[in-house]
Amino acid sequence: MISPTASGAPALRVHDLRKTYDNGVQALKGVSLEVAPGDFFALLGPNGAGKSTLIGIVSSLVNLSQGEVQVFGTDLVSERSATMRLLGLVPQEINFNLFEKPFDILVNYAGFYGLPRAEAEVRAEQELRRAHLWDKAQMMSRTLSGGMKRRLMIARAMMTRPRLLILDEPTAGVDIEIRRDMWKTLQEINAAGTTIILTTHYLEEAEQLCRNLAIINHGRIVEQGPMRGLLAKLDVEGFMLDVEGELPAALPAIDGARLVAVDAHTLDLDMPRAMDLNRVFDTLGTAGIRVRSMRTKSNRLEELFVRLTGNLETPAA
Ligand SMILES: Nc1ncnc2c1ncn2[C@@H]1O[C@H](COP(=O)(O)OP(=O)(O)OP(=O)(O)O)[C@@H](O)[C@H]1O
Ligand SMILES: [Mg+2]
Repeated sequence: MISPTASGAPALRVHDLRKTYDNGVQALKGVSLEVAPGDFFALLGPNGAGKSTLIGIVSSLVNLSQGEVQVFGTDLVSERSATMRLLGLVPQEINFNLFEKPFDILVNYAGFYGLPRAEAEVRAEQELRRAHLWDKAQMMSRTLSGGMKRRLMIARAMMTRPRLLILDEPTAGVDIEIRRDMWKTLQEINAAGTTIILTTHYLEEAEQLCRNLAIINHGRIVEQGPMRGLLAKLDVEGFMLDVEGELPAALPAIDGARLVAVDAHTLDLDMPRAMDLNRVFDTLGTAGIRVRSMRTKSNRLEELFVRLTGNLETPAA
């Protein structure tokens, strides 16, 4: 089912993508990104950032207002069905018939895509085995656990052998054991050559799974690049300083560091890990600021996320 594609083309290329819904909401305000073939890519962002809109457009569930989307070099607008054949989608909500059996769900799904029944049955067994659901193949899907239902959704999407698998918050609301189990499944699929893009609120998930990521907020990409580069950027330490008396109106500038007054007695300091704290204290002292106590700010990835998205809502842990 793999169709010829432009060689060397990215698995996904999105250029200046915009979406305004009928009610006037501008969900995407010019999003551009590229995902390399074979990548494991995370699209991270808070509620309402535009993640599902982006995924909806790429998988042809939502019409774009403006911009370009190509999947392995195939243009979404001019070659919609060819594009769709390259994609597998795992939606956030469980959307199979609970009164069907896993085996039938997979075979029927492949049927929609024109796969001959005999071939579909062979693949259904392969996918159910990979999803560790073969022993449940003939049970009513309703009786599967939450984690099994989610694995079934992935198995179903894999029936067409997509080159790009897209998952919208695959682990939202599932417990840690199921999440780890799904991570393993996804890593196996990726290792076998399928490019994966997932959206998530869970920073830990992106850190565990993904090589590259984009952070989206209010319909715009606010950060994009390798996970490793992002973690290096996090080589910044954050401290809260309690000072004696009241802070002066103007704070001293400290080269390479960021100093912000939280209130009249508290400073928020971000500085590179390598920076000498004595220098900071000297500068503060010269400005007549005496530090009484200090404490480290919490989790680096969460900190960065909050900083980038300017969102005080802490992402779910
Ligand atoms: N069908 C729709 N009609 C009108 N507005 C919509 C529609 N779908 C989404 N929106 C709006 O578009 C914006 C982006 O929503 P979207 O669902 O893409 O966000 P998201 O990043 O997936 O959020 P979440 O993490 O909560 O799933 C929001 O303001 C949302 O209210
Ligand atoms: Mg969403």
